[in-house]
Amino acid sequence: MRNRTDLHPTGARRLVRSMVAMLALTTLVGCKPLDDAMASVFGRSMRDSRSFDPYEHPMPPAEGSVAFAAGNWPSADGEVNLGQPEGVAIPYFTQFDLGTPGVGGEVVQGLVNPTDPMSAESLERGEELYSRFCVVCHGPDGVGANAYIADKHPLLPAYNLSGAQVSAYSDQYIYAMIRVGRGLMPEYGGRITHFDRWHIVNYVRQLQVQAGTRSAEAPAPAPDADGGDQ
Ligand code: HEC
Repeated sequence: MRNRTDLHPTGARRLVRSMVAMLALTTLVGCKPLDDAMASVFGRSMRDSRSFDPYEHPMPPAEGSVAFAAGNWPSADGEVNLGQPEGVAIPYFTQFDLGTPGVGGEVVQGLVNPTDPMSAESLERGEELYSRFCVVCHGPDGVGANAYIADKHPLLPAYNLSGAQVSAYSDQYIYAMIRVGRGLMPEYGGRITHFDRWHIVNYVRQLQVQAGTRSAEAPAPAPDADGGDQ
């Protein structure tokens, strides 16, 4: 019995020969002329394609526009962040600086609350942001067990913001939690700006007063109330 190759000996040989010829041709002339020929037919070529760097915006910003977010802090509440205010050193910290969970200390030396913690405006803004970002896991009254996700994710909402433990934390610690997160809690630094973080801290303090774990006494006003945080 004859096999397939035996049936078409010349056909197989011809195929191999033409493949070798094509390979030789490609090696000799390279891809460029072929690409040019295709470009003349189709009007464009992959060679001229515009490439983007990672995270590069494919469209230039509109003329006269101002970048909305930057790594620096705005110099005052409600201001668009145009860069680092003069003389203000920006403390850098990560989750590792938070220290032992349950202690809630200073975190960053000299990080001062630039807002008026008792002002109605600040508390209103804090409430607005708390209900946007925190309420789902920490509950409307700060009691984790009352959080909306409590049934489905029993571990996530277990942290009580209006209890005695967080009442004893420093303002800086709560601020830092918002900025860098901790463990299962996501970081909100990229979504909540410097002043808004402080408004949330003020609001969390109010929840603690309402829960009876903190006295309503107004804390001493921040020494540097114009927003120039150190
Ligand atoms: C996705 C759910 C979720 C959201 C949203 C969330 N948290 Fe948390 N939060 C947690 C979890 C989980 C923990 C416990 C973190 C850990 O594992 O150590 C926590 C812990 C905390 C703690 C420390 C509590 C303690 O006893 O040490 C503070 C303060 C806090 N969150 C504040 C906030 C604030 C303010 C917001 C809104 C900006 C917020 N959280 C949004 C889940 C969340």
